[in-house]
Amino acid sequence: MKTYFLQVQKIVRETEDTVSIHFWHPISEQIKYKAGQFLTVLIPGSDGKKVRRSYSMSSSPATDSSVAITVKRVEGGLASNYLNDRLREGDFLEVIEPMGRFVYEPEEPHHGSLVLIGAGSGITPLFSILKTVLKTTDRKILLIYGNRDEENIIFKERLQQLESEYARRFTVVYILSRPSGVWVGHRGRIHQANGVWFMKENRVDFKNDYFYMCGPEEMMDQMQKIYKLFEVPAEHIFYERFNAPAQEEEEHLPDLKKQTVTVHYDGETHVFEVEPHQTILEAALELDIDLPYSCQAGMCTACLGKCLEGTVKMDEDEGLTEKEIAEGYVLTCVSRPMSEGVVIEID
Ligand SMILES: Cc1cc2nc3c(=O)[nH]c(=O)nc-3n(C[C@H](O)[C@H](O)[C@H](O)COP(=O)(O)OP(=O)(O)OC[C@H]3O[C@@H](n4cnc5c(N)ncnc54)[C@H](O)[C@@H]3O)c2cc1C
Ligand code: FES
Repeated sequence: MKTYFLQVQKIVRETEDTVSIHFWHPISEQIKYKAGQFLTVLIPGSDGKKVRRSYSMSSSPATDSSVAITVKRVEGGLASNYLNDRLREGDFLEVIEPMGRFVYEPEEPHHGSLVLIGAGSGITPLFSILKTVLKTTDRKILLIYGNRDEENIIFKERLQQLESEYARRFTVVYILSRPSGVWVGHRGRIHQANGVWFMKENRVDFKNDYFYMCGPEEMMDQMQKIYKLFEVPAEHIFYERFNAPAQEEEEHLPDLKKQTVTVHYDGETHVFEVEPHQTILEAALELDIDLPYSCQAGMCTACLGKCLEGTVKMDEDEGLTEKEIAEGYVLTCVSRPMSEGVVIEID
């Protein structure tokens, strides 16, 4: 994976606990990315090792000259607090090249409107997608956007500007879970019933429109019910997870044994043992074997490999399509060897 040292051009405080960090492109090349993708930042951890965290780009390749990420503070969180409090303009940050499949593909000849559904920091990739689509197409966009209160609406002013600039094509429905007394808009969280109401009120065409969502798991589960109810085609639904879904412990602890695994990566062959409590990536990292990874939770696909021999079980396979799973692709960060002689090839 390619890494860059990017210089911070500008830090913009969006809300009390959220900053946007704008980077200069490297002098030698422009960073190429698609709307909706993320960067992985490398931050020094307490044990001297670098900690990796993914942040979606809030900038748009179509409208913004700098590359930006937007980071919301997580209580006690290592990277989000470092980026909110310690990073300064002019500093350099090591990042891994853009990745991710939650993208708007401009080359695909889609015609339907877009329905973007987001809450809290989940607005970040949606903001990039919406700026790109407004600028480069004539498609309509409905954004359903949940937050705690008025003060926590990230990009509030810029969304208002875009709503007036693209008045015929862009609508935002705000919903706040703990608004002030003067709030006259929608109250509560985004769920199935109000989701259907917002969509019907805005004449969403469930068969032809495209749905992009990013937010808490509960919100995404509720939206999936709507898609099922109105038979939205599966290829019209896109989602990004910032957190790993809750695991059911028992289900993921079958009769695992210590196994020897072979991984081919970057012209080298690594043979190592994976203990029953480890995933293949965890075992490799413990031995300082340098394999690609980012989120370590089955969400970003940075650790994608193909299982050439043996069998593995993935704790979580939502990051892959059914076709990829059928072809033997695995995510090493959530994969456990289930047989002897597992061989994995990473591109
Ligand atoms: C593909 C992808 C894109 C992402 N894009 C963004 C983005 O654009 N903006 C953004 O702010 N974040 C984004 N995230 C989340 C981000 O990568 C970090 O997980 C988050 O900033 C917390 O990291 P931390 O080091 O501060 O917390 P950690 O030190 O990792 O965790 C501290 C504690 O907080 C809990 N925790 C971790 N993440 C969250 C969370 N998101 N909400 C609540 N509790 C949490 C942990 O379980 C732990 O108990 C993205 C994640 C992924 C996988
Ligand atoms: S490291 Fe992100 S999916 Fe494995």
